[in-house]
Amino acid sequence: MSLTIDSLFSVRGKTALVTGGSRGIGEMIARGLVENGARVYISSRKADVCEELARELSATGTCVALPADLANMDDAGRLAAAVAERESSLDILVNNAGAAWGEPFDAFSERGWDRVMDLNVKALFFLTQRLVPLLEKAGTADDPARVINIGSIDGLQAPVFEAYSYAASKAAVHQLTRHLAKHLAARHISVNAIAPGFFPSKMTEFMMENEPNFTEHIPLARGGTPEDMAGTVLFLASRAGAYLSGSVITVDGGLLAGSRSR
Ligand SMILES: NC(=O)c1ccc[n+]([C@@H]2O[C@H](COP(=O)([O-])OP(=O)(O)OC[C@H]3O[C@@H](n4cnc5c(N)ncnc54)[C@H](OP(=O)(O)O)[C@@H]3O)[C@@H](O)[C@H]2O)c1
Repeated sequence: MSLTIDSLFSVRGKTALVTGGSRGIGEMIARGLVENGARVYISSRKADVCEELARELSATGTCVALPADLANMDDAGRLAAAVAERESSLDILVNNAGAAWGEPFDAFSERGWDRVMDLNVKALFFLTQRLVPLLEKAGTADDPARVINIGSIDGLQAPVFEAYSYAASKAAVHQLTRHLAKHLAARHISVNAIAPGFFPSKMTEFMMENEPNFTEHIPLARGGTPEDMAGTVLFLASRAGAYLSGSVITVDGGLLAGSRSR
């Protein structure tokens, strides 16, 4: 037994797939895993963006782009097959790709409902289903393979803006996390979720434009950073996080607890 940081938090030599790994939170996660010696596959729709980041990250480790549109079930299947062609097992699956949609209640469109639910919930479920055979090969009783789902505090409380399908999709991600955790434990796979608060990204550009002082409401008075996100994923993906399953970890600077006191 070793309780040193190097041993507890190491992901060296592990294999990982990060969906939506081309930018934003997915990039923060991919970067953290690559810099710590994991072999990382990143996936998103825009092949050029994905490949450019994979090239950049390959300067410090191993990162491979596998572009796919996960809203399309055939593509999700192709992505799982592409990982299986290259790896005999998969240690870490980060289901991060997600979309948001804001519209007033009275005008909320079916398109805005389906687009978000198809990617945030349906694709997460079916990609996980298709990758379980590879995850199973990596997991052991003491060191399970890890599925890390990216939920949101918007799935735990009503969002600031009207985002009905998004909030419902993230509550579904948290509930699927618990259900999958219970079911997949016997196959040596743990399943946890991270519920981020506010991390500057393309998705949150709308919020930054409409509420430029939003971070003032966050108890810790700032948005999340790559260190905050990568640190949480390294914990969940390494020996240190081996006994967590079915957890939803908020990484939000205290926002869920309440607005910053004046
Ligand atoms: N940023 C925040 O404050 C925040 C807070 C709570 C939760 N989250 C969650 O964190 C995750 C990442 O969000 P983000 O802020 O980093 O958003 P982002 O900057 O918009 O990044 C989204 C990523 O998903 C990919 N993607 C979008 N549609 C896809 C599709 N159909 N198939 C495959 N990949 C797709 C995007 O690349 P392409 O466009 O090239 O496909 C991109 O890599 C999401 O699940 C989001 O709900 C974010």
